[in-house]
Amino acid sequence: MKRKLFSAVLMAITMAAQAQTPIYLDVNQPLEKRVEDALGRLTTHEKISMIHAQSKFSSPGVPRLGIPEIWCADGPHGVRSEVLWDEWNTANWTNDSITAFPALTCLAATWDPEMSMLYGKSVGAEARYRNKTVLLGPGVNICRSPLNGRSFEYMGEDPYLSSRMVVPYIQGVQSNGVAACVKHYAVNNNELTRFTSNVLVDERTLREIYLPAFEAAVKEGGAWTLMCSYNLFRGKWLSENDYLLNQVLKKEWGFDGAVISDWGAAHDTEGVVKGGLDLEYGSMTNGLTEGASNAYASYYMADAYEKMIQEGKIGTDELNDKVRRVLRTIFRTTMAANRPFGSQNSEAHVAAARAIGNAGIVLLKNDAPTKKGQPLLPINLNTTKKILVVGENAIKMMTIGGGSSSLKVQHEISPLQGLESRLAGKVEVAYERGYVGDPKVEQDGMVGQDLSDPRSAEQLIADAVAKAKDVDLVIFVGGLNKANQQDAESSDRIEYGLPYGQDNVINALLAVNKNLVVVNISGNAVAMPWLKNVPALVQDWYLGSEAGNSLADVLLGDVNPSGKLPFTIYTGLEQVGAHVLGDWEGKPSSTGKAWEIMGYKVPVTDLQYNEGMFVGYRYIDQNKLKPIFPFGYGISYTTYAYGKPTISKSVINNGETVTITVPVTNTGKMAGSEVVQAYVQDVQSSVTRPTKELKAFKKVALQPGETKEVQLTLDKRAMSFYDDSKKDWVAEPGMFNVLIGANSQDIKGTVSFELK
Ligand code: BGC
Repeated sequence: MKRKLFSAVLMAITMAAQAQTPIYLDVNQPLEKRVEDALGRLTTHEKISMIHAQSKFSSPGVPRLGIPEIWCADGPHGVRSEVLWDEWNTANWTNDSITAFPALTCLAATWDPEMSMLYGKSVGAEARYRNKTVLLGPGVNICRSPLNGRSFEYMGEDPYLSSRMVVPYIQGVQSNGVAACVKHYAVNNNELTRFTSNVLVDERTLREIYLPAFEAAVKEGGAWTLMCSYNLFRGKWLSENDYLLNQVLKKEWGFDGAVISDWGAAHDTEGVVKGGLDLEYGSMTNGLTEGASNAYASYYMADAYEKMIQEGKIGTDELNDKVRRVLRTIFRTTMAANRPFGSQNSEAHVAAARAIGNAGIVLLKNDAPTKKGQPLLPINLNTTKKILVVGENAIKMMTIGGGSSSLKVQHEISPLQGLESRLAGKVEVAYERGYVGDPKVEQDGMVGQDLSDPRSAEQLIADAVAKAKDVDLVIFVGGLNKANQQDAESSDRIEYGLPYGQDNVINALLAVNKNLVVVNISGNAVAMPWLKNVPALVQDWYLGSEAGNSLADVLLGDVNPSGKLPFTIYTGLEQVGAHVLGDWEGKPSSTGKAWEIMGYKVPVTDLQYNEGMFVGYRYIDQNKLKPIFPFGYGISYTTYAYGKPTISKSVINNGETVTITVPVTNTGKMAGSEVVQAYVQDVQSSVTRPTKELKAFKKVALQPGETKEVQLTLDKRAMSFYDDSKKDWVAEPGMFNVLIGANSQDIKGTVSFELK
């Protein structure tokens, strides 16, 4: 009797407690129930306040209800340092130095989705530790031209590679209870005119080249937020682009998260309210945002929006939809159950940065400098006693600069430091500058190294040459450097060649010492006029905290290089469709629109993507060109032999998959990893299609002498083109070839199948 009474009392207490816990606070309730419950408790004013910023990187929650603020941070290569409330400048905190991970071009060059998962988990844990709700990344804009200043923040020229690599990054970040924010949606493929370009591209190209990575990010990656870009598409700003935001992203792809404006991408209250923007940041309304804390009330989705509602000029359906999306973001992150705690600069994160760098560095050439000699790499410690390192990029910190992805690191190992520490006590390492590039870096009030050097260009070369004469090996470390016009946000490169007279330095070094390794650090392809005389060439990237250690690992052969190019290295811009056929600069626009900022009006220009889907290797194939290094290229310290590929079925019905099996053998003496690539060729098609397109790949690790059977599966989408009239993906009956290659031009075998 007593026991019965006791349990009845207990149940009553539990029920009372439950009744008191509002549904939105109960992490065990379904998401949508929480959202509806919270929405029902909010006043219109609270709703409005939730959908626009209150500082440079945050927006308010609802303190009355215990709903926390949203805090965003750049992205995508590490968590940006804290800035002042209203300004871009650093807040000079002392606890926000982080681990910098390799740039996304490097991640793409790993061709390894597991590396992407490791990346996402690690950078997401750092964002979580710093209490961020949203990490502003990853970026997946297609590398349409090697001049695009921001290619280094993206994943190369191919939509399939970008799609496969973006999904695990997002899942990894979000496993920390931090929202990833995929950017910059969409067709934001240059920097200089990103605020004013009206991009005009046909629907098929849009669907087949520029949207797939975003589509995968949403549908497969389950991205919780997405950032709309600054530019216009078909005459409409992206922040109010009903077609791309409401129709494609939200309706067609089922995106239920929040669309965040790029900082200052909103232009008009009614436009953004109806056009699909959910969360407004960085607006330049009346120019007040530069430091004025009252600016936020004058945002487009602030007082002006509330007034329109009060005056009955607009209903509240859009507002409720936006608030639901913002609430989902909060409930999935800061108000989620079992949100991990995160960590910053952990040993595991530093190791992850190094491992991703190791896997992404691409060996492009490795010949013997003389007929009887050995390939220069890996560096032979028996015969190499003196090394001269030349070049500014050997000593330059690459984490500061480049725009919003600039980072404040706890440590950054330069290439010279990496080599020196690996070779200490074994090889004498000397250094010479060779050229002066970007000696003084400043980003958001953070000042980088002072690398100024009073010597003339001639003197710098003469000094390097004098030392190069009597060493066993010269390693030139140059390339681009994230300075304005050299791989940086807000500007594009102005030339394809290496800047600062680096070609002269390389030629001068070659004249006195044939044992020359060139290491090109960049996020874009560059011209290589000296290539035939340079025996060894390495494509390195902006690798972050562990840059020098990763490079030393590869140069010394502690790691066998296995990266492959995520973009084509063209002979010059004459091989780039965007430059030959398309607009790069833009033409006066018929929209009559202008970007208005601080009292200035900058007219919009039309940017026609005339080259259509012929981007990167698709243009190379179509015009039967020979680039310096094709898309997907990369060699190793070992060699691989491909066996004959076989296919699971030679005839399939629409909707069925086929699997190709390729035996691959490591025929050399060192363990390594090879990326096997499958390109699909539609033999009979009613529409023009690229000659071939990457549709599957796999990275496989092989011990010396080992053979593995690599399996690559193609689904219906891999055979399809986007049919504009049907508004759907269509796989046409007929014959298909599948070209199995070590890169896009080295095809090792072909199999065919017929689609019924
Ligand atoms: C960049 C975004 C960045 C944002 C916030 C913008 O200028 O385009 O990529 O996330 O600033 O820093």
